[in-house]
Amino acid sequence: GITRNFEFNVTYLNISRLCHSKQVVSINGQLPGPTIHVNEGDRVIIKVTNFVDSNVSIHWHGVRQFRSGWADGPAYVTQCPIQSGDSYTYNFTVLSQSGTLWWHAHITWTRATVHGALIIHPKRGVTYPFQQPDDEVPLVLGEWWNAKVEDVFTEFTAVGGLPNISDAYTINGQPGPLYKCSTKDAFVMDVTPGKTYLLRIINAGLNNELFFSVANHTLLVVETDALYTKPFSTKTIFITPGQTMSVLLQANQSIGKYYIAARPYASAVNASFDNTTTTAILNYQGSSDSAQPILPELPEFNDTAFADHFDSSLRSLPTTDYPVNVPQTVDRSLFFTVGLAVKPCPLNHTCVGPNGNSLAAAVNNVSFVLPHVALLQAHYFNIQGVFTTDLPDQPAQLLDFTGKPPKNLEAAEGTKLTVIPYGVNVQLVLQDTSTLATENHPIHLHGYNFFVVGRGFGNFHPANSSSFNLVDPPQRNTLGVPAGGWAALRFKADNPGVWFMHCHLEIHNTWGLEMAFIVQDGNRPDQKMLPPPNDLPRCV
Ligand code: C2O
Repeated sequence: GITRNFEFNVTYLNISRLCHSKQVVSINGQLPGPTIHVNEGDRVIIKVTNFVDSNVSIHWHGVRQFRSGWADGPAYVTQCPIQSGDSYTYNFTVLSQSGTLWWHAHITWTRATVHGALIIHPKRGVTYPFQQPDDEVPLVLGEWWNAKVEDVFTEFTAVGGLPNISDAYTINGQPGPLYKCSTKDAFVMDVTPGKTYLLRIINAGLNNELFFSVANHTLLVVETDALYTKPFSTKTIFITPGQTMSVLLQANQSIGKYYIAARPYASAVNASFDNTTTTAILNYQGSSDSAQPILPELPEFNDTAFADHFDSSLRSLPTTDYPVNVPQTVDRSLFFTVGLAVKPCPLNHTCVGPNGNSLAAAVNNVSFVLPHVALLQAHYFNIQGVFTTDLPDQPAQLLDFTGKPPKNLEAAEGTKLTVIPYGVNVQLVLQDTSTLATENHPIHLHGYNFFVVGRGFGNFHPANSSSFNLVDPPQRNTLGVPAGGWAALRFKADNPGVWFMHCHLEIHNTWGLEMAFIVQDGNRPDQKMLPPPNDLPRCV
């Protein structure tokens, strides 16, 4: 590989959507931010300088960060934030993965406008294990609020309730013609009849899982979360916040315009959410300016069967470069409940959750509290009092997770971590709970891809493990735990460091649906974390 250098300046940007203007935090004045192109094997060096008043940190979502956790980015997990006026240079090598990923701010809700595509092309001279596309187009799906997202965040965290829902979804920063004031700036993808295109799709939305289709066109899924999949043909894809996917599209329809469209999937009953549709335009060369685009049919917002069918259809594609090594044995077995709860209202606040409490979310009934010193620094330098290592491997009580809610809805607060020795095979069953509401949780693990060996509705039962797929399960860094159901994943703990795991719905993340793994160093020098860089932001 070679070294690729990038400069990210965190700056304010004045933009207008839906006839509302506001100032947002951006990278280099762009929304979405700049696309990073690298090849597998490259060293990537990105100097981030903060020119705004608020703190920032950037996460390279899905990058494995072998031994380089200092460059992972979540604020107070692997680093303290970059203060106004300061810079930090992220430095990492991209290994053993190829495809579409993305980067985003990892502090409060700044990622609403601070995000972009990170594309890992195959090693030089290596072709894709599928038809070579004539062209490639990143499609970043996002969410837009007319209000300042900083204010949405502050207001809802102060009252412990639900935040205001977004006003639009966007494709490459644009809501598209179905929203007011949005027709002329819609994103247009020009295609030549007969050619093949690789769409690199990213769900950068904050709180909504999405269905995505292109009218009259079939999508061939060839990669998810930067690992190849067995080609899977579908009219619609299902993509949660945090997930990425590459699909092939043949421009094989009659000359004209077709809508590219995305709209939400909402798993919670009675959820209040932004039920609108964003569109971009697939424009065949030679189509008339006045041609009216056709809208694709998308599943209903509550089509859980479709979402489940889509996720269950994905399979890994073993190749010489990417053997599919599913751990066949388990050294450490974890069972984590993920779901909503309540916690005491902060002092001097009035909260709107049940019985005057604040709404919360928890892993094994612990609602995560971010520390003031980054966990990775506390771990590496042995700083006491920052975290504890007593997150239970199982919930205290094995309840009926999908039936009647337990009487006590209250979650304990804490900064509780799970310690994993180097090299062990971990099995983690994630069980959605029915406390307050069953809901699909897109759980993201930093520093790893994991194999999704099983999933189902209802309560997980140990007998379910006899039907696990240990041959070609999909590999992901973010998976949707089905609403009222469970998902089982496996990974080999071969990357030392402190790795955050959390729900990628920002509401739930903010409420505490987070935890972190400490993966210890191995004995060999190449199994140990690299030392911290000199410019690592100080915790002040
Ligand atoms: Cu994409 Cu911890 O996040």
